[in-house]
Amino acid sequence: MPLITLDSQTDFGTWRKAARALALDNVPPTDVTWTVQGRAPGPSASPAPVPPETGEGTFNVSAKFVELAQAAILHRDPDRFAVLYRLLWRLKVDRDLLEIATDPDVSQVTAMAKTVHRDAHRMQAMVRFREIGRDRKSHYVAWFEPEHHIVEFTAPFFARRFADMPWSILTPDVCVHWDGHVISFTPGISKAEAEIRRGYIQPAGPRTNATLAEAPQRQWRNPAEASILEPLLADAARWTGAGITMKAGAELKVRQEDSMRRKAEAYDLEVLREEAATCRACHLYKDATQTVFGEGPQNASIMLVGEQPGDKEDLSGKPFVGPAGLMLDRALEEAGVDRKKVYVTNAVKHFKFVPRGKIRLHQKPNTPEIKACRQWYERELAAIRPSLVVAMGATAAQCVFGKITPINKNRGRLIDLDEGVKALVTVHPSYLLRLPDPESKELEYKRFVDDLKIAAGLQKKSARAA
Ligand code: URA
Repeated sequence: MPLITLDSQTDFGTWRKAARALALDNVPPTDVTWTVQGRAPGPSASPAPVPPETGEGTFNVSAKFVELAQAAILHRDPDRFAVLYRLLWRLKVDRDLLEIATDPDVSQVTAMAKTVHRDAHRMQAMVRFREIGRDRKSHYVAWFEPEHHIVEFTAPFFARRFADMPWSILTPDVCVHWDGHVISFTPGISKAEAEIRRGYIQPAGPRTNATLAEAPQRQWRNPAEASILEPLLADAARWTGAGITMKAGAELKVRQEDSMRRKAEAYDLEVLREEAATCRACHLYKDATQTVFGEGPQNASIMLVGEQPGDKEDLSGKPFVGPAGLMLDRALEEAGVDRKKVYVTNAVKHFKFVPRGKIRLHQKPNTPEIKACRQWYERELAAIRPSLVVAMGATAAQCVFGKITPINKNRGRLIDLDEGVKALVTVHPSYLLRLPDPESKELEYKRFVDDLKIAAGLQKKSARAA
């Protein structure tokens, strides 16, 4: 009975190679034992090197299976390697098996992948950093207990989000460190150990990702020098060399990890909506009725971004259903854009207002609030991957471009955003509602419709291509 030993709990590369070779050799799943280095194998298993591929026959699995397996392998269930191999084995004869959602193997693997994504998402939302040291010696540290083996998977997300400051996330499985250039890993530490090294753990408190993102960028060169994390950081290079990194080599550049980042963030919109419902990244949730998440099909080719929900949106839980929404609907129709096929969302997902008697007066969100909420826009974008993002108004433009972006200078033309995604800047429909004289109202409305016609053209092109 072959025993396949993987290098680590997240060693997809070895699993894939071994599984492929075993399947090509017609080794039935019941004959294979999977283990991870350092774990005791079962009684009847005999250690075997990863079998070389015989080169006989061909066996290609779909990208869908690879994506599922890459996520499911991060699940903590010790049987996952075997279940995945069983599924792979069955795919050899039944190529459409993944389409049968009720199949026990398919549903088990799908559920594992979903749970892993959920956990990664929880980590992205919940990690709270604490500043250790001062000024040039500053280092930001967080403690987190993941349910699954997601630390390496989510590391690029944190490196990108907190690119300008050195940080460490300590977990019981593995600790991850970012020095501004390279991600490195050290072995996990226990909570007790982390507590002994006082200051490693963030006490529950008001500091959030958002406040951290707002922290002034500091001059730092070598945080390890004076940091109390010195022993851990010094160890990082050694462990990185030992292969704990996602890819071999100590010079792991985060910007080269784009595809991994995309997968880490590519969530089901319903999962995102559920998680956003309890978002506490800024204070706005306290007075708002609910989170108003985006709405529209996940395969939308166009994503419209507004500022924040208004009074009606806050009460109904849906974006753009009040007066600005009516204006938007009219303009979309005139421009030839089908709203039902568009994903509509806001830069900020909670209503910000001041009460004035019986009414609630809209307040413009400020930069910290926009930044705190941007994670949701980023995840919506990753989930939908539209061809075009339309930023309506200054707040939306700030969210979409990640910086203050003047409307008039940029409006009405397609701007490259990221990996095939274009952006279009235009005014917010509320601006049209506020214009006092009918003439300029009419003129500005026409310009707005003209801008949306660019989106209409793209929507038609995408429909033809589909
Ligand atoms: N204004 C916005 O920006 N969004 C809405 O959902 C409603 C009004």
